[in-house]
Amino acid sequence: MSLQAQSVVIAGGGSTYTAGIVMMLIKNQEKFPLRRLTFYDTNQARQDLVAKACEVIIKERAPHIAFSATTDPKQAFSDVDFVMAHIRVGGMKMREQDEKIPLKYGVVGQETCGPGGMAYGMRSIPAVIQLIDYMEQYSPEAWMLNYSNPAAIVAEATRRLRPDAKIINICDMPVAIKKSMADILGLESENEIVDRYYGLNHFGWWTEMTDRKGNDLMPKLKEHVKNYGYAAVEEEGNPLLGEASWLDTFQKAKDVYAVDPETLPNTYLKYYLYPDYVVAHADQTRTRANEVMENREKHIFEECQRVFEKQTAVDTSIEAGEHAEFIVQLAGALAYNTYERMLLIVENKGAILNVDSEAMVEVPCIVSKRGYEPLCMGAIPEFQKGMIEQQVSVEKLVVQAYMEQSYQKLWQALTLSKTVPSAAVAKQILDEMIEVNQEWWPRLH
Ligand code: G6P
Ligand code: MN
Repeated sequence: MSLQAQSVVIAGGGSTYTAGIVMMLIKNQEKFPLRRLTFYDTNQARQDLVAKACEVIIKERAPHIAFSATTDPKQAFSDVDFVMAHIRVGGMKMREQDEKIPLKYGVVGQETCGPGGMAYGMRSIPAVIQLIDYMEQYSPEAWMLNYSNPAAIVAEATRRLRPDAKIINICDMPVAIKKSMADILGLESENEIVDRYYGLNHFGWWTEMTDRKGNDLMPKLKEHVKNYGYAAVEEEGNPLLGEASWLDTFQKAKDVYAVDPETLPNTYLKYYLYPDYVVAHADQTRTRANEVMENREKHIFEECQRVFEKQTAVDTSIEAGEHAEFIVQLAGALAYNTYERMLLIVENKGAILNVDSEAMVEVPCIVSKRGYEPLCMGAIPEFQKGMIEQQVSVEKLVVQAYMEQSYQKLWQALTLSKTVPSAAVAKQILDEMIEVNQEWWPRLH
């Protein structure tokens, strides 16, 4: 039986991840056939660069897909089954500010965690809401699968501002970690692992891991993580991960794990549990934003230009990563009713028993045509509960600050973050962030 072909729009057509998603979509034409693929972006020049290469790739590998790129919302969002969104409001230049301003005050400077994530959140909220509104206006039956960061704050904003929207907020970090786990265990793919996990986005813990036969994988994983974190081995030269900063994050999971050896942690917890270490190892003049601009962004744009000039992608280095794999798998589950189990960011409603039922949590869900159905993870221990409650309030305060245009609430949000040492430091960081974000944030009073 042949599957019904889908129409997808990628919002954030100029993203460094877009070409990888296209590669993954092409690779999956049997499992997730496309009739139409559209790019949408507000930055036409940036999108054109990616689009002209993808046009070559699609012509060469999947000419049945009707491809176009546009900055016109009506054209982009009409006749669409799925919106795959990964936008970055303010671009990498603002990521650099989000990372560098907190560092000046000895505070973690990170894209999604701490003050940087809150600043980014204030920029992302109106733009993601705008995408939802376009989708609802032009393709009310469609699903939006949203990678746009900071996913935790964006998810809370969509819960408050568009509670009935067909949006699913997602993150590829657990998938990336599970890939490393599969390597550690000698399994072929992370899809062989069945997990139980609870927390918030970039803030969670695994409690159980089994293979498909039900064998417990936790003892072997714990033994490894205790010594090496999620990296393959301690010695350099044989890392699972190509980039030094990511390798460090995967190795640091060893110390994050030590705080609670009952569970296996998300790597992002290092920013909350070892902020002193993170700040001490940061370079205030060259943060992750600079690395990405000099590496991934430069590579992708040069490669797109090369493919366009040669008018062929036979020898291209553009690859489909886990980011792409996960979103395509999710779309497939919704379109073709596969009942796959996936970690999604959803309203708690009792999935984590002793956490605020209105919190946006990350838990395993069963995904089918009906949407997603969260699995109950039960009650969680005091340590995680305390950390989660604090962080949920931070995320809720940011969204309240946005909705009420409240300086006071945003100051409270920064002050409450585990990454920030005092209200005084929070205020200094906030005041600098307001200055550089005038173009994007609502005016606070
Ligand atoms: C992971 C996270 C994303 C985050 C990305 C940053 O994939 O899940 O939320 O945006 O890492 O990676 P980068 O290479 O840009 O620092
Ligand atoms: Mn993420």
